[in-house]
Amino acid sequence: MRQARSDAKIIVALDFPGGAEASVFVDGLPPGSCRLKVGKELFTREGPALVRRFVDQGHDVFLDLKFHDIPHTVARACEAAAALGVWMVNVHACGGRRMMQAAREALEGLEGHRPLLIAVTVLTSMSGEDLAELGVTVTPEEQVMRLAKLTRTAGLDGVVCSPREAARLRRELGDNFALVTPGVRPRGAARDDQSRVLSPSEALSAGSDFLVIGRPITQAENPLAVLQAINQELAAG
Ligand code: C5P
Repeated sequence: MRQARSDAKIIVALDFPGGAEASVFVDGLPPGSCRLKVGKELFTREGPALVRRFVDQGHDVFLDLKFHDIPHTVARACEAAAALGVWMVNVHACGGRRMMQAAREALEGLEGHRPLLIAVTVLTSMSGEDLAELGVTVTPEEQVMRLAKLTRTAGLDGVVCSPREAARLRRELGDNFALVTPGVRPRGAARDDQSRVLSPSEALSAGSDFLVIGRPITQAENPLAVLQAINQELAAG
C-alpha cells in the first residue's frame, strides 16, 4: 500500500477555477499539514501535470474523479491514477461489484505504492424521488448502506459519506474501513450551500477518518491559520 506522507485528517478540496490559483494556494501549505483533493473541474482544465506538481511537492493527493465505466476501463483508469503517485482515488459503487473488484485487482497488481481505493455510494444531491426515477425504490439511507456493504465486499478501502451517515456506517462496517466525509464546517464558519454539517471534531467522533473541507479554508484570508486551528482542535480531541 502507498505510504501516506502525513497523518493529516483534513483533505482540502481544491475547488479553484484554474491551476494558477490552485498552485498559489497550495504553495502556502506545508506538505503534511493537510491532504489535497483534485476534482473533475480542476483536473479537466489542467490535466495530470498539476496533480504531478502537487505530488512532487510532497502532498498526498486524493484524485476525486469518481470513475464509473466497464470494469476493464475503470481498472486501467485506476492504474493511470496510481502512476501519477496519488494517495487516494475513487469510483462509483453503483458501477457494481465486478467493476470495483477489477479496480482493486489492478491496483494490487502494481509494484510499489498503491493508492487507497474508495467508492462513492449515493450522491448527497440525490433525493428519494431521484432514486425512484432510476428504479431504486429503497430510501437513500438504505441505498447508501447497501452500496457501502457492496464496496466492502469488493475489498475496497472505504467510502465517501455524509458525516451524518458516518456513525451507522462505522457501526455496521467495522473499524477497518475508511470513511471520508465532506459537509464539515468549523464552528462559526459559513455553511455555504451545505445544508447539514458537523464540526471537525463531531465528524471524527461520529467515525469519520478523513474530512473534506473546501471553502472555509480555500476562501479564508489566512488559509494556513484556519487549517492549523482545525488541526489543533482535532489533536485536542
Ligand atoms: O467548500 P466545501 O467544504 O463545501 O467543499 C466540499 C467538497 O466536497 C467539494 O469539493 C464538494 O464537491 C465535495 N462534496 C460535497 N458533498 C458530497 C460529495 C462531495 O460537498 N456529498
